[in-house]
Amino acid sequence: MTTKSQAVLNWIDERFPLTSSIKGHLTEYYAPKNFNFWYFFGSLALLVLVIQILTGIFLVMHYKPDASLNAAGVPVAFASVEYIMREVPGGWLIRYLHSTGASAFFIVVYLHMFRGLLYGSYRKPRELIWIFGTLIFLVLMAEAFMGYLLPWGQMSFWGAQVIVNLFSAIPVIGPDLSLVIRGDFVVSDATLNRFFSFHVIAVPLVLIGLVAAHIIALHEVGSNNPDGVEIKKKKDANGIPLDGIPFHPYYTVKDIVGVVAFLFFFSAVVFFAPEGGGYFLEFNNFIPADPLKTPPHIAPVWYFTPFYSILRAVTYPLFGLDAKFWGVVAMGASVVIIAFLPWLDRSPVKSVRYKGPIFKIALVIFVICFFILGYLGVLPPTPGRTLVSQICSVLYFAFFLLMPWYSKLDKCKAEPERVNFK
Ligand code: HEM
Repeated sequence: MTTKSQAVLNWIDERFPLTSSIKGHLTEYYAPKNFNFWYFFGSLALLVLVIQILTGIFLVMHYKPDASLNAAGVPVAFASVEYIMREVPGGWLIRYLHSTGASAFFIVVYLHMFRGLLYGSYRKPRELIWIFGTLIFLVLMAEAFMGYLLPWGQMSFWGAQVIVNLFSAIPVIGPDLSLVIRGDFVVSDATLNRFFSFHVIAVPLVLIGLVAAHIIALHEVGSNNPDGVEIKKKKDANGIPLDGIPFHPYYTVKDIVGVVAFLFFFSAVVFFAPEGGGYFLEFNNFIPADPLKTPPHIAPVWYFTPFYSILRAVTYPLFGLDAKFWGVVAMGASVVIIAFLPWLDRSPVKSVRYKGPIFKIALVIFVICFFILGYLGVLPPTPGRTLVSQICSVLYFAFFLLMPWYSKLDKCKAEPERVNFK
């Protein structure tokens, strides 16, 4: 570094912790040297967050949150999306990046959460990273749900109608609560305006704040790894973990590999299959919203369907409250229970590599049930399908609720002293 640039740097450092932050979070932040494929998804989630914010900024320049009909009898909001697709230069690309980005976000986040399950990354001392993560997941669902109303297609309208109506099942406050959410007695222009406001500013601000908290908590305790060994326990004479390597340049470079591979698949979908076979953009949503015509089958977007199936699996009233109420409770519980994993897992080891057969079998059953629930959630219910979703919902909850018992019972292997690295 020349003396001039050093002088500029010194000037900044005296006023802002630039060099110390770069050292503390990058060049002298030691991460375990045995990260594998599963560790790509955190940085990829960050990448998708940036893609969503940037493309969102450009969409807002042309989108209009207005449910009134234009001269051609088409809702202004719907027409503005079509205008973006057909008239705005590059608008189709920006829109497809954003709509595909929504699904990509959930794929990446589900894989990121699954990594946590595999390697016990939620265990002490990473409980707060996990809790912030669960909150991010909840907020992300709210963000995606409100975003889906904006194109004002048939699925936007009727999906919102079904989901907001669920809140009315809550005793006492329910009907007023759904009225407050909608701003009207039915989903209307008022709903569209408030969902737009939440989707473009309020929820993204919360999301960014939570992601910052997530990463600050991570850097406080350091990353877990595929062996579940705490690298801070074994340090050299200079206090550097023996199994740690500086995040920069090692993982900044490694993460680029993940970014390139991700962009390869992401672009393939954006350019060749932006509708994702009707899963990323539903066919019914290419029809303008019509409050007088209910589509024969209303299903949420794929990333909500496992939880939607759990909602529909509850078909019995209990304690004088109807099945819909208990369905909403079960659906809420199925997400909230994830936050309690740090206290449900009593295994002596963190990583699946050293856990016993019971955990491995439980995890496989859990994943299969999650996929079946997801699949059933897009289909119209039949008595047979409802029964299968009831069995899968019970197994879903059993994975969590029985964990304190089976994780203690399991025959685990001893964790190694140092990480495995070939
Ligand atoms: C916008 C969404 C999210 C972003 C941008 C994000 C970002 C990150 C980043 C950059 C890392 C460090 C790199 C890595 O370990 O992969 C990380 C770690 C972690 N995240 Fe997330 N995350 C998100 C959502 C979640 C969710 C929903 C959960 C769980 C409910 C979660 C749980 C964790 C855990 C436990 C770690 C530590 C992993 C370990 O050390 O093994 N994250 N996250």
